[in-house]
Amino acid sequence: MAEKIRERAYAKLNLTLDVLGKLPNGYHDLAMVMESVELGDDVDITARNDGEIHLNSNLPWLPKDGRNLAVEAVKVFRTAIGDESLGADIYLRKRIPVGAGMAGGSTNAAAVLRALNRYTNRPFNADRLRELGLKIGSDVPYCVCGGSRLAEGQGEILSPLPMPPECHVVICKPGFSISTGELFKKIDERSSRIRPDTPGLIAAMEQKDVAGMARRLYNVFEDVLPRNLREVGELKSRFLDQGALGTVMTGTGSAVFGIFDDYDKAADASVELGEYCRDVFLTKFVDEIEI
Ligand code: C5P
Repeated sequence: MAEKIRERAYAKLNLTLDVLGKLPNGYHDLAMVMESVELGDDVDITARNDGEIHLNSNLPWLPKDGRNLAVEAVKVFRTAIGDESLGADIYLRKRIPVGAGMAGGSTNAAAVLRALNRYTNRPFNADRLRELGLKIGSDVPYCVCGGSRLAEGQGEILSPLPMPPECHVVICKPGFSISTGELFKKIDERSSRIRPDTPGLIAAMEQKDVAGMARRLYNVFEDVLPRNLREVGELKSRFLDQGALGTVMTGTGSAVFGIFDDYDKAADASVELGEYCRDVFLTKFVDEIEI
């Protein structure tokens, strides 16, 4: 029997998210500063040679079929190597909240691509794995290596960025989720909007200026949240009350995170915020993964 491979699948956060327009394929042209955080899932994979794909998870309600991006990743990988007999037993130990804007499904798929690439003696380099990732979802190319990146286009044009300065990150996932499709539709209906200062943010990261970085966190989707989701704004106020230097929603939500320069403040904030959100995580940024 093939040996079990364990891959760590880090969650992603958006320090900025800007929507620049529409692409010819109907997707949106984006500009996003993306970061991996230590919070992640464990993805255990044992390859099979009978073409079957079985998925299990500590969250019994997660889809186990092709709707789960981890299953889709096996299919995309085996087609790319031309061996339809490749299958896998996958176990997802989920810690990343689902429906949070933290690329949980995409990072699981990227972990499957890395694991199968390793299992088959690395037929693909990182660029080729990212190309395969794009067949699965827009965030998967980033998740192949993660780390500190500017993601443009559909999300697949990736440029390395300096690591953020040393800081502590508290993430809160409210009980509700937000429809990605609905937010993109609302963005299309709005012609003018405030844009993130992406170059300023990158300069602050280069200068290791935590406060300058935290001040420039910005996500254009916050401006088009439905009225009944004011909770996101309230959560951000609570972060600031707790001493966060900056706070923002990630992706299309619903998770919100705050940046702290002091560990004790971040730890106290995560206890306080636990009164409003069941899922609260104290974590930090991590560098990219070697494939
Ligand atoms: O690629 P993925 O399936 O993760 O995207 C989910 C949805 O987000 C798409 O169906 C699309 O509506 C929207 N999207 C977009 N432009 C992007 C990425 C995602 O419009 N660059």
